[in-house]
Amino acid sequence: MLLTIPDILSVEQLSTARHILDKAEWVDGKVTAGFQSARAKDNMQLPESHPAARELGGMILGALAANPLFIAAALPQRIFPPLFNRYSGGQSFGTHVDNAIRQVAGTPQRIRTDISATLFLVEPGEYDGGELCVEDTYGMKKVKLPAGHMVLYPATSLHQVRPVTRGARVGSFFWIQSMVRDDAKRSLLFDLDLGIQQLNRENNPLAVQFTGVYHNLLRQWAEV
Ligand code: NI
Repeated sequence: MLLTIPDILSVEQLSTARHILDKAEWVDGKVTAGFQSARAKDNMQLPESHPAARELGGMILGALAANPLFIAAALPQRIFPPLFNRYSGGQSFGTHVDNAIRQVAGTPQRIRTDISATLFLVEPGEYDGGELCVEDTYGMKKVKLPAGHMVLYPATSLHQVRPVTRGARVGSFFWIQSMVRDDAKRSLLFDLDLGIQQLNRENNPLAVQFTGVYHNLLRQWAEV
């Protein structure tokens, strides 16, 4: 499932993020790449331990925890502390798959990357190129979203970021270990959840029955 979640960050939060990121010292993005993806990766990144990354990452995690659409779609178990990257001057990230397991720097914590997330931090009109291209069963999807919007896609997908030929593309990226690791099962639960929400809006008594089905499926499939 590839899903866009609008307005993760408010206008004020976006302006805080831009203010901090404009002043930050960026380093070569190969620092967090695996062996294979390092060859494809050409961008700049904030070091994981950078105070700006910590501060903005905390802000993003707070916004995610308060976003019902994100919770329903991702069923998050653990979220990797958000990272930040910047592409300009023709930089790109060629086709790759994200590492399956990521260690949180400076901790023993490991996260299985079930879902990849990209949160766009600048407006699409501020740069040319820079589309996130994700290959799924229905072909290639091109994603370029307004600032503050986020896309979730299965971390199993081949994906790339097209060259940025004007301006700079600044974004946050991170991974989610879901309580339900299988994308197809997670998608079914999400569809069922949306249906239940509609039944609830209509005060339909079937909502209770389907909520029972939802939780009983979650009980079968979730790892916590
Ligand atoms: Ni990637």
